[in-house]
Amino acid sequence: MPKHHLITAALPYANGPIHIGHLAGCYLPADIYVRYLRLIGEDVIFICGSDEHGVPITLKAQKEGITPQDVVDRYHALMGGAFQNFGISFDYYGRTSSEMHKKTAADFFEKLYNDGVFLEEVTEQYYDEEAQQFLADRYITGTCPSCQNPGAYGDQCEKCGKTLSPSDLIDPKSALSGNVPVLKPTRNWFLPLDRLQPKIEAFMDSRQGWKTNVTGQVRSWLQQGLHPRAMTRDLSWGVPVPSQIPSSEGKVLYVWFDAPIGYISATKEYFQQKGDAEGWKKYWSGDDARLVHFIGKDNIVFHCIIFPSMLMEHGGFVLPDNVPANEFLNLEGDKISTSRNHAVWLHEYLEDFPGKEDELRYVLTSIAPESKDADFSWKDFQTKVNSELVAILGNFVNRVLVLSHKYYEGVVPSDTEIPGDSDARKKVLEAYHHCHTEGNQAIQKMVEALKHYKFREAQAEMMNFVRCGNKFLADTEPWKLQKVDPTAVEAILSYALSLTGNIACACAPFLPRTSEKMFSMLNFSSDEVMKAFWHQGEMVEMMAPGHRLGEVSLLFQNMEDDAIQQQLNKLEAAKMANQTIAEKVVSPPKAEVTFDDFSKIDLRIATILEAQKVPKTDKLMQLLVDTGMDQRTIVSGIAHQYSPEELVGKQIMVLCNLAPRKLKGIESKGMILLAKDSDENLIFVSPVRPTTNGSEVA
Ligand code: 2FM
Ligand code: ZN
Repeated sequence: MPKHHLITAALPYANGPIHIGHLAGCYLPADIYVRYLRLIGEDVIFICGSDEHGVPITLKAQKEGITPQDVVDRYHALMGGAFQNFGISFDYYGRTSSEMHKKTAADFFEKLYNDGVFLEEVTEQYYDEEAQQFLADRYITGTCPSCQNPGAYGDQCEKCGKTLSPSDLIDPKSALSGNVPVLKPTRNWFLPLDRLQPKIEAFMDSRQGWKTNVTGQVRSWLQQGLHPRAMTRDLSWGVPVPSQIPSSEGKVLYVWFDAPIGYISATKEYFQQKGDAEGWKKYWSGDDARLVHFIGKDNIVFHCIIFPSMLMEHGGFVLPDNVPANEFLNLEGDKISTSRNHAVWLHEYLEDFPGKEDELRYVLTSIAPESKDADFSWKDFQTKVNSELVAILGNFVNRVLVLSHKYYEGVVPSDTEIPGDSDARKKVLEAYHHCHTEGNQAIQKMVEALKHYKFREAQAEMMNFVRCGNKFLADTEPWKLQKVDPTAVEAILSYALSLTGNIACACAPFLPRTSEKMFSMLNFSSDEVMKAFWHQGEMVEMMAPGHRLGEVSLLFQNMEDDAIQQQLNKLEAAKMANQTIAEKVVSPPKAEVTFDDFSKIDLRIATILEAQKVPKTDKLMQLLVDTGMDQRTIVSGIAHQYSPEELVGKQIMVLCNLAPRKLKGIESKGMILLAKDSDENLIFVSPVRPTTNGSEVA
C-alpha cells in the first residue's frame, strides 16, 4: 500500500523573527525532503505553524507593553512570510492560538486525564509575591548548577544546554520583579515518564535508520532514568486546562504538551479547509501513515520521548518513523544569539539580497549541521556562490543556451547520432559516454542520499552532475569545432540542452526557483520530464529537435566584496551596540558649541595621493592629499597602524582650515579625521560611497 507521509517541521515560537540557524536546522532539510517525496510521486503533506504559547511570549509582551496576542500576531505574519519567500513549501502553516488547536489540545489532555494517565500532585513551586504569580520555566532565572552560568532559566541553561527545573537553580530570582521568590503549594498533572520508560525503550528499539546524534541523546536520557514531568502550569497564557477537571482554574497546558499537538490540529485544519473533515486521519493512524519530524537538537527529548509517550497513552496515533534532528549552526565562529543580535535574520537577508533566496538555500544546505555543529561565514557564502553557483551551474547553463542561440537562433538542433570517423568525433563520443555514465551515477547517489536524510551529500551530488556537464563542454569544445564540423556541434549542443533540462530536474528539491527559471529559459514544460527523471532516478531524453528555446538570462551573479563587507559590518555593529556602557570607555561629552562656531570649520572629502613614513618617528606619516581645492601636505600620527600602501587612494575627511603647523620640520596644512576607539584603534572617517574631492561636510 502506498504510504501517507506526514512531514512536520518544528513549530517556531512566535516571539521573534526567523534566522539562518532555524532555516538550516530544520525547515530547509524538511522542505528538500518533502519536495523529493512529491517528485517521486508519493502522497505527502508538509505541516508546520507558529508555536504561540510559552513564557517567552508573555515576557516579550510585558517588556513591550502589548498583549501576548499582539506579539504572536506580529511574528506569525513575519515568519510565515519569510518561509514563503524562501520557498519552504508547507501544505499548511497553522498557529496554536487557533480554536481548532485549543480544542484538539484540551480534548487530548482530557482523554489522558479520564484514562488516569496523569499523576496529580501538589508540589511547592516558586511564587513571586509582588507579581502574585507562580514562576514557571522562563519566569525564573538563576545560576546553572552544571556550568555556573548566572543567567540560566527555570527550564534550561542556554549556555550548557542542560534541561533544568526551577528548583535546580542556585539563587533563583523572579524574571518579573527581580525578587527572590517564595515556595508555595500548587496542584499540577504529571506525565509519569518513569512508568512509561519501557514503552519508550521498545519504541526506540523498533526504529531503524535514525541519526546517531538523535539516538545518542535519547539513549542518554533513558540511561539516566526518566522522571514524571508536569504537563500543566499556573499561567494565564496558554490552552486552559479543561474546566471540568477539578482545580483547573488558573492553569494552562505546558507549552510542550500543547505545541506538538499543533501538528495534529494543523493537519485537521488543512483538511477541513479542503472540505474533507475526516481526511487528516489517514496521515495520523493506520499502518500506511508515516510520520517524520524535522527538528533542531534542542527539541529531541520532546519529539522522541514526551510526544511519543503522549501519543501512546492516548492511543490511535502513529508514532514517528524518524526524527532527523540537526545540530546547531553558528555564525562567524560564534553561537547565533537573538539577545545579542548575532544572527542573519531572513527578513533582513531578503531586503539586502532580493531574489537571491536560492543562493542562501544552497549555501545553508552545503554546510547543514547534519551530524555536528556547523559554521556560516559570509566569506564562505561569497566563495560558494561565486565559485559553485556562478562558476559551475550558472556557467554551464549560460554557455549551452548562448551557443544554441548563436548557432541555431534558439532552436534545438538535430540530434542525429554521428559516427566516430574522425579524431574529433571520437572525442565527442567518448565525452558523451563519460558524461552519461558519470552523470547518472551522480543522480543515483543524490537519490540515495535524499532517501537517507543526507541533504548535504545529495546537493553535492547534484553539483557533481552539473560538473559532468561542464566537463562535457570542456572536452568537446563546440566553440572550436563549429568551424570544422558543424554536424558534430549539433549533436553536442542537442545533448547539452537535454543535460540542461535534466539538471533543472535535479535542482528542483534544492533550488526550486532556479529549476523553474531553467525550464523557462528552455521554454519547456517541466511536468512530464520531472516525473520521468525522478521516477527513473536517471537522465531522461528531452528537448526534441526543432523546439524553440526561451530567452537567456543569468542564473546567478557574483557576490561582490562590498555586499559581503556590509554584512560583516552589520554583525560588528551589533557586537558594539551590545557592549554595555560599563564595558565601553567612552570619553565624557564636550561643552556645547553654537552653530556659528561649527560653521567656521571647513570639513571636506579628500583623497590620499601619496603617503610615506616620516623618518626617525614611530607614528608620523606624511600624506599628499587632493582636497578638490588644492593638493597639500598633511602629517598624521597613523604610521603605527597603517602602511603607506593601504593609504593611497583612500577617500577620507579633512579639516582644511586648521592653522598650519610644523611637525618634524614638515609643514602640515590641515588634519585627517579619525575615530579612536577604546582600544586606541584609529579608524578613518570616510564617505560610504566614493564622492567628489572637495565635497563639503556639514
Ligand atoms: O523550539 C521551538 O522553537 C519550539 N517552539 C518547537 C516546538 S515543536 C512542536 F512540538 F511544536
Ligand atoms: Zn549551564
